[in-house]
Amino acid sequence: MIDRERTSVTVLGTGSMGRALAEAFLAAGHPTTVWNRSPHRAAPLVAAGAKQQLAIADAIAASPVIIACMTTFRATHDSLAPVGVGLSGRTLVTLNSGTPSHAKELAQWAADQGARFLGGAIKNVPSAVGKPDTWLYFGGEQAAFDEHAQTLRVLGGDLVYLGAEPDLAALYESAVGATLLPALLGFFEGAAILAARGLAARTMVPYSAKWLQMIESLLPVMAEEIDARDYTRLGSSIALFHAAIADDEQLGTESGLDMSWHAPMHDLLRRAVADGRGEQSITALIELLAKPATQR
Ligand SMILES: NC(=O)c1ccc[n+]([C@@H]2O[C@H](COP(=O)([O-])OP(=O)(O)OC[C@H]3O[C@@H](n4cnc5c(N)ncnc54)[C@H](OP(=O)(O)O)[C@@H]3O)[C@@H](O)[C@H]2O)c1
Repeated sequence: MIDRERTSVTVLGTGSMGRALAEAFLAAGHPTTVWNRSPHRAAPLVAAGAKQQLAIADAIAASPVIIACMTTFRATHDSLAPVGVGLSGRTLVTLNSGTPSHAKELAQWAADQGARFLGGAIKNVPSAVGKPDTWLYFGGEQAAFDEHAQTLRVLGGDLVYLGAEPDLAALYESAVGATLLPALLGFFEGAAILAARGLAARTMVPYSAKWLQMIESLLPVMAEEIDARDYTRLGSSIALFHAAIADDEQLGTESGLDMSWHAPMHDLLRRAVADGRGEQSITALIELLAKPATQR
């Protein structure tokens, strides 16, 4: 049921994530306007109570808060550019992925149109929008965040205001998200190792979950070592990981798996040992990640 007392919102981009955002606003009673480049994709939202606008200028005019959830910052800019003047006095909130520099460019463009800007990131899948496990990060003008926090809160379990710089959400999203693909690949590889023996992936889920909890518990210690550049406390050395390279390669042969994605990690370990870091904690690998100034 739409509640006219609640802030009107406009959602631009009703793909998988944008649709979930619009559904969460509708479920919380916000008058919700939607626009999508391909209009047919917004149809299910109309059935759920949203007002669809075919012209993006009309969609912007409908609300003080404009949530953009297109694939990239560039797509958002290109869609809004012809109607930028209409953003004046409104708040543009982005919830797409992208690089910090692209977030900054869009923030500057929005400021030039007289709009306030909140660069956001949503850390979960569309089916989890509005649920406690979904966190949203924001960077940008604090007054805009404070004014719209109550409205944005319907999208997840917690909102985090990171600071005034408009690219902070993109920065933290990239930094936190860096774990995702390597961690998932590790899980898939584990599943393939078991499958090669006729065992189901589900049989390892309890052990994998425990393993991830163990890694979680070590994050503060590792972060302390990294921040202090003191790689002596963890008790898990580069030499230990280096010694396991041969077993790792053997496992690939025995299981009949392509484990070539390990090669760059093995290379890092070998370079760290050659650099005299064998007895340092595994966290010291961070020292090898920064490219020499000449290669940047
Ligand atoms: N899905 C997830 O699990 C997830 C989780 C966290 C964050 N995100 C982020 O959310 C953003 C949207 O993801 P999604 O899953 O909703 O993707 P999606 O289902 O592929 O939808 C993409 C949306 O962007 C629009 N779009 C793309 N290029 C455009 C352009 N040049 N001009 C105008 N509109 C354009 C599409 O419009 P059309 O329908 O016309 O193509 C559609 O509305 C991405 O940045 C993604 O990284 C997604």
